Amino acid sequence: MQKVIKSSNLNKDLAYILGRLAFDKLFILTDENTDRLCYPLIKENEQAGKADKIIIKAGDGNKNIDSLSSIWKYLSENGATRHSLLVNLGGGMLTDIGGFAAATFKRGIKCINIPTTLLGAVDAAVGGKTGINFNGLKNEIGAFAPAETVLIDSVFFRSLDRRNFLSGYAEMIKHGLIDSDKEWNATLSFDTEEIDYDGLKQLVVDSVAIKERIVEKDPFEKGIRKALNLGHTAGHAFESLSHEAGKPVPHGYAVAWGIICELYLSQKYCGFPKEKLYRTVYFIRDNYEGFFFDCGHYEQLYEYMKHDKKNESGAVNFTFLSDVGKIEINRTATKEDIFDSIDFLRESVGL
Ligand code: GLY
Repeated sequence: MQKVIKSSNLNKDLAYILGRLAFDKLFILTDENTDRLCYPLIKENEQAGKADKIIIKAGDGNKNIDSLSSIWKYLSENGATRHSLLVNLGGGMLTDIGGFAAATFKRGIKCINIPTTLLGAVDAAVGGKTGINFNGLKNEIGAFAPAETVLIDSVFFRSLDRRNFLSGYAEMIKHGLIDSDKEWNATLSFDTEEIDYDGLKQLVVDSVAIKERIVEKDPFEKGIRKALNLGHTAGHAFESLSHEAGKPVPHGYAVAWGIICELYLSQKYCGFPKEKLYRTVYFIRDNYEGFFFDCGHYEQLYEYMKHDKKNESGAVNFTFLSDVGKIEINRTATKEDIFDSIDFLRESVGL
């Protein structure tokens, strides 16, 4: 099982992890940004300081076959064997592609994820989903391949800008919703303007634990792991539309809007309590500014939802809630209700 270490001393914990793993050669994968901003924080570690570094271009647009091929090539030409270890230092894009490179190089080498964004820490780096975008589709090629260890240290979150902070925070709201009133309340009561980093650290620890519990029960998303898709059926459609419109929004913003649509549908189909719907809506409205789209885009949004890889037998697959912590997977909704949910989103957050 994947080990997740919530660190207070990055270099000490990294030394501990590297000391426990047997490997013949160490490689560190970074992108142009994490190489400059994050690698200096781990290079004091003697092994990390001497490791071979692979640097790829940053950004989700580079989570592609060319970057993957350049990682494989570097490993192949620089003495990596089946017993080598890859450390993935970066956000979700980096741990996704690095995890997939590790899973496929010589049929699989070990890797460690050190997420450097909130989104990476609470979602992408944990749970073993790896892959690349292909043929215009997000995460079209990939594998379930958990990193040996995920090392989470909040030292990286202090330098995040507000958009990146909020992008990760949307996944924490989702974790609160699928878990319990206590966690949901905690995420919605947190002051996102004046961030208390110690408080954030505890919230992150709790949020990651929620994801770990679910992934442990269902690592290959046959059942309950679909709970983690709350907000993502509509969310991926908003994200894709924003990219196509040339106004890309961060993943978590699209997920936050998707949560509003899917809680609206949860209320309609499963009786999710109205007061909890509105409390969540107000939090999202107050924090996540919108991007412009109108009812002329609804058909296109619906097309994106119909092509979501989570669907089965042609129906749009949703995860709904009958209450906070009460999960209803494999639900569908009519096209009319889906359009109503987007109307509700636009009215409630003023898109
Ligand atoms: N990002 C949702 C999952 O890992 O299942």
